[in-house]
This record gives sequence, structure tokens and C-alpha cells, in this order.
Amino acid sequence: MQARVRCAPRRAALAGVALLLAAATGPAGAVQLDAHGNVIGGPGEDAPAARLYAARCASCHDHPEGRVPPRAALRYTPPENVLHALRAGAMRPMAEGLSDEQIRSLVVLLTGREAEPPVDPMANACTSPLDEVVLEPSDWSSIQADPRNVRYRADAGIDAASVPKLRLRWSFAYPGRAAGPVSLAGNRVYLAASTYVLSLDAATGCTRWAQPVEGRVVRAVTLATVPQAGGERVVALYGDDNSTLTALDARSGAPLWATRVEEHALSRITAAPAVHAGRVYVPISGIEDPLTHEPAHACCTSRGGVAALDLVSGRLLWKRYHIAEEPVLRSAPDADPPRFGPAGAATYTPLAIDAKRGLVYASTAEEYGFLNPQGPYSVIAYDLETGERRWQRQFLPGAAEREAICAAHPQTDCRNLFSMGTSVSILQVGEGREVLAVGQKWGWVYGLDPDRDGAELWRTRVALGGDLGGVMYGMAFDGTALYVPVSDDEVRAPHRPGGLAALDPATGAVLWRVAGPDPHCAWGTDGCLAAFVAAPTAVPGAVFSGSWDGYLRVYATRDGSLLRAIDTGGEFAAVGGATARGGQVSGYPVVIGRGAVYVTSGASSILHPGNALLVYTP
Ligand code: HEC
Repeated sequence: MQARVRCAPRRAALAGVALLLAAATGPAGAVQLDAHGNVIGGPGEDAPAARLYAARCASCHDHPEGRVPPRAALRYTPPENVLHALRAGAMRPMAEGLSDEQIRSLVVLLTGREAEPPVDPMANACTSPLDEVVLEPSDWSSIQADPRNVRYRADAGIDAASVPKLRLRWSFAYPGRAAGPVSLAGNRVYLAASTYVLSLDAATGCTRWAQPVEGRVVRAVTLATVPQAGGERVVALYGDDNSTLTALDARSGAPLWATRVEEHALSRITAAPAVHAGRVYVPISGIEDPLTHEPAHACCTSRGGVAALDLVSGRLLWKRYHIAEEPVLRSAPDADPPRFGPAGAATYTPLAIDAKRGLVYASTAEEYGFLNPQGPYSVIAYDLETGERRWQRQFLPGAAEREAICAAHPQTDCRNLFSMGTSVSILQVGEGREVLAVGQKWGWVYGLDPDRDGAELWRTRVALGGDLGGVMYGMAFDGTALYVPVSDDEVRAPHRPGGLAALDPATGAVLWRVAGPDPHCAWGTDGCLAAFVAAPTAVPGAVFSGSWDGYLRVYATRDGSLLRAIDTGGEFAAVGGATARGGQVSGYPVVIGRGAVYVTSGASSILHPGNALLVYTP
């Protein structure tokens, strides 16, 4: 669910649209979800699946303790995950004796959706022997290209002149759902689908290996070179929604190690890890945010953070919570449900590594009760070596200002309007000078001074903020301008267009901006928005931007003029005879390497998901 919108809107405000969408798409007997994936209704207690749940599952999942996820959290779990748990995973004993139909009815009851039918991930296996994998510095080896998060490639054989010549070379249908973008190493492409992590051959798209992910959600793979006896090898690293980081051999897919970095049942690893100097840095997020709207939930105890692991062994070296304070009981002892806090400050976006200063930067999201401790709504710098918190900057307006802003955004959950929406990007501006840039869901972009503990250099407002957040995921930087996606739109009317803005990295001045066009979706008007809820990708002269109407748009970096619009929202004949379905171009969709543009279409769990990887070459 890379693109699950992290703001959980007030239910009443969205109920109209929500019911409409649920009525149009939800299977009978399922929970009903609004456009954001929040639950807004369900079947009666006497439905057969509800009776099964009461008899078999409620004793634990309605009274969650320790590792038991509360029932409400299962709604945000992909149906394939729940199906796997019941058929082959930890919940198999609880489903003993149930028919396949009964198990499927439980999946639909709990998640509101049917599980995707299983597909054979090796149906299009490569016939040539396994090749060696060699990682080059120019390879797009992690979700944002490199750990400075600048999303720019000067040396990948694609520039503005290639854009008119781009043609679809091959496409691939992610088995199940598209979960995240690709990453690249040598002749290989790595990607995460809802049920497998896969490695493909970059030239033909045939499958080198597929590793099942036990029904857990994995969103992206980071590749790194590790020394070993007699040479080196490349490893593929990924986190999952069980807060476990896994390392595989990138050549063969053989498992090397797996480390659970956090025990809290509602914690997650959402963003791909970052690698530096023999260590893996892992951002810790969570799924507790939407449960804050759940009257029965004992809110809230999960905290975001950062963990550092040894790259060779997977051993945990240090872990820090962004909110250092332990959550404690905040309600009367007999309150039902009890209230805990502080909690929250998840990190949903990739970390940034500042090798020069020995720091790792995390941007953090909302606190779950407006207790406003240290940690949420912030950029935090930790020492790479020891994990010590070196500095922190918080971007939460004061109480009076906040109240006024919230009154102006009545349809939005104001608690998370001020969450940081993007990673920190480390920008080189002139000789030896650097600026840290970060975007906020409320529509501001900040420039910070890394040599003065993140002191603010500039701030520029590019968006209004709202249901989908103002500035989300990440930004691109080509050495001249910072390209900022504007996610602004409302799931309900009146829709506002998204767009793209170019800022001067030294001053924050707006160099140009383009509004998103009127949306035209291959799938019709249902769930068709033009918001730019995706990190852009830059090459010399051109910037690629994904949009929720299924389009990839390419703009000239000079003035923002539109060079090309490519519709990815339809169906494509994929390698191996499969059909790839496009959808929203969301999250971190465009990766560039070795003369090719890789576009993931449909990596979104809401409105219009899909499973297409589209590979374009000039
Ligand atoms: C005796 C207590 C108990 C009962 C009964 C129970 N569960 Fe669970 N459930 C757990 C625990 C504990 C976990 C966490 C397992 C872990 O973290 O490895 C869990 C986890 C899950 C998960 C998440 C699995 C994952 O891989 O993340 C699902 C889905 C689930 N349960 C569904 C069900 C359903 C459906 C039923 C009824 C058929 C059920 N459970 C009955 C205790 C229970």
C-alpha cells in the first residue's frame, strides 16, 4: 500500500463519496471502505462470515494484546495477506476445518476485498543460466536512486532529446498487485508485488527468480554490494509490514538473513532501507493512524523510528524511537477503551544519508493525540554510528494558528495535515554548500542548513494541502532546480488540480509552476483525479511526473513546458502472455537506468490500482 493516503479523513465528511465507491466496488457482505480505504460500514452481525468471525477469531482480535493485531488493523492488510495467514501462515490452526469458501468469506469480511487469484511468477522464467549481478554507481539501486534522495540521473542514456522517441519496449504484469517501483542492478530489475519479490532480466523481462513474501507487504528493494570471501556479492534488501528486514542474494534470490526490528503489532516498514558503509538504515512506520478514528481502539502506543543493522549479518546495531518518551496511560484506569500516548511520528518515506556529516535524516508524520511531544512533524538527524539524536526541527504551527488552519480545511483530518510528506533531499548548491529540502502535507517546502543543525534557510508554499496531502513522497533535483509534486486535490468535489513546481534550491523562489491538466482516465470518470501524488524523476532537460489519472507527463526543466504525455491507464500485452493493467501513477513510479525508463502504473491501493510495469526506450 505504498500509496495509501496517510491522512485518515473524518468519516462523516467523506461518507457520501465513500458509500458511493463502496457500493460500486465492494463485494456483498464485506466491510465498506471509503475512497481512502477507511471503513465506513459493514455487514450485519448475523451474516455467515460475521458469525464465523465471532466464533473463531473475536476472542483474540477483539481484545488485542501483545502481538495480536486488532480487527480494525486487518482492514488495512491486503486480502492476499489475510488469505495467506489463514491458509498457510500463523492463523492456520484457527482456520482448521473451514472450507475454502468460508476462508474467502472471512477475507472479504475483514478487508472489504477479494484476494487476487494466484499467478505463477515463474511462468515466464528465463532460459539462459543465472548471470552475475554487478552493481554500478550509476544504477538506480534504491527507491530514490541514491541515499541523498535527489532522484536524478545524468548518465543513464536518457535526456530531453530522448523523450519524443520513447517507445514501449516491454511490459510486465506484477503478480497480484503492483506494490512498488523497480530498482536496478546491472542487467537486472528488482520489484515487489503483493505476493512476491522478483528479479527480472532487464533486456527481455523474463523472470530470474521469485521469492514469496508470505503474504506480507513489501514495497521496494534496495540493492547493495557486500564483501565476502573471494570477492563481493550484491544483496537485495526489503522491509515488510511485519517490521522485518530481509536480505536475499541478488543473483539467485537465496535468503541470507531476516531481522525483525520492531515488535509492536501495528508497526511497519513502509519505505525501502538505505545502505551506507556496511550498514542498513531502516525507517519504522505504523498502521495505527487510521485506528485513531476507531472508537473501540485503545489508542495509541506505536512509535516510528530508525534502526541500524549490520549489512553482512543483519544484527541490530541500534534503534531509536522518534518519540523517545514511552507511551503511558492517559485516561482514567477504568476507561473503556483506555487511552495511551504519546505515540505516532511514523517515518513513511525513505531516510537520507549525509555521509559528509555522519548523519541519517528522517522526516516524521503526525502524533496520534496532539500531545505535541518531541518527534512528530519533524526532521530528525541521528548519528550514523551511534544513533544519538544530533538535532531536530519541528514544523508544527502554534496552537492558535493551527486552529485557524484547521477551520479552513474542514474536510481534512487536521491532526495529520502537518505531517512531513516527503523524504529529506540533500541538495548541492554551489561549491561545497548544501541545503536540505523537505516537503510537508500542508503544502510547504522548507530549505534547511545542514551546517547549523537544520536551521531554516527558506520556506515556500506550493500547495494548499488537503485529503491527499500537499507535497508527498519525494522531490527531484538536477543541480539547478528542485522539482516539487503538488498532490493537492480532494477526493470529493470540488477537485483542485495538482501540478509541478520548480524551486530555486538556494532561496526557495518559484522558478516556474504548471497546473495539472483536466484528468482523463482510461478507465472512465470513476476515481479519476489529476493529483500529482508521486515523486518526480529528473534527467538532463526533462522531469517525469506521475499522476492519479494514469498519465506519465514529461516537462522541460527549463520552463515546465509539456514535452510528452503518456497514458499508462489501459491494458498492455505483457511478457509471458499476461495482461498488465495500468492505474494511478503514484508513489515513486519512474526509475531510469541504462537507456530505459521504467514506469510502475497502479501501485496504489485506492481508487484505481493496477499491476503494470512499462519499460520505454528511445
Ligand atoms: C488465540 C488467539 C487468536 C485467534 C483465535 C485468532 N488469532 Fe489471528 N492472530 C493472533 C496473533 C497472536 C497474531 C499475530 C501473529 C504474529 O505476529 O506472528 C494474529 C495475526 C493474525 C493476522 C495477521 C497475520 C500476518 O501475517 O500479519 C490475521 C490476518 C489474523 N490473525 C486473522 C485471524 C482470523 C481470521 C481468525 C479467525 C479465523 C484469527 N486470526 C483467530 C491470535 C489469534
